[in-house]
Amino acid sequence: MKLDLLHEHADRAYPILAALITPRPIAWVTTLHENGKVNAAPFSFFNMIGDDPPMLMFCPGNREDGTPKDTARNCRRTGEFVVNLVDEPLGEVMVRTSASLAEDLSETESEGLATSASSTIATPRIAQAPAALECKLHDIWELGGNRMIIGLVQCVHVRDELFDPVTLRIRAQAYHSIGRMAVPDWYCRTDDQYEMKRPR
Ligand SMILES: Cc1cc2nc3c(=O)[nH]c(=O)nc-3n(C[C@H](O)[C@H](O)[C@H](O)COP(=O)(O)O)c2cc1C
Repeated sequence: MKLDLLHEHADRAYPILAALITPRPIAWVTTLHENGKVNAAPFSFFNMIGDDPPMLMFCPGNREDGTPKDTARNCRRTGEFVVNLVDEPLGEVMVRTSASLAEDLSETESEGLATSASSTIATPRIAQAPAALECKLHDIWELGGNRMIIGLVQCVHVRDELFDPVTLRIRAQAYHSIGRMAVPDWYCRTDDQYEMKRPR
């Protein structure tokens, strides 16, 4: 099959690409509204883009009416955000925070999610998250009805048991992140990992 995403199958681009480009990591992004409330929403158009400097990106599309989502709006206004990472126990509440709330309401409040102060930015992080990446906004690229928000990672908070202080590595076998699969509702677990040695 050949699928033409610019013409014949243009209206299927989202479900086709989102089912093929899998699994996708999930950024559960907290941002701060001007009323002081914490906005939380998940984004699976997300990845790290480098380590020197440490940078990541995620992509909030516009709503159907063409307006930016609250996360995009708050990032632009404050110049900062936190990417909270998601493990299996947090999966269901993460999905619930994808519901559209009025922009001045807080998903962390409506879901009873505790937050903790960040170290380098004003935006709080989700206390229960296995890890949280404090980011300052580097750039926003507008891309049609989408945008790429690029952040410089200032600081990482990680649960004590996930970090090995001797090797200075994350204990990958203890970190049960989940990934997004086909839209709208499919996910994967990541506890069936295997090793393939790279050639030297
Ligand atoms: C797992 C998951 C991943 C999502 N990924 C994206 C994404 O990459 N881009 C996007 O625009 N919306 C994505 N969404 C939908 C947003 O989370 C949703 O539109 C949310 O209401 C945005 O909230 P906000 O207006 O508070 O920013 C995703 C939803 C889920 C459940």
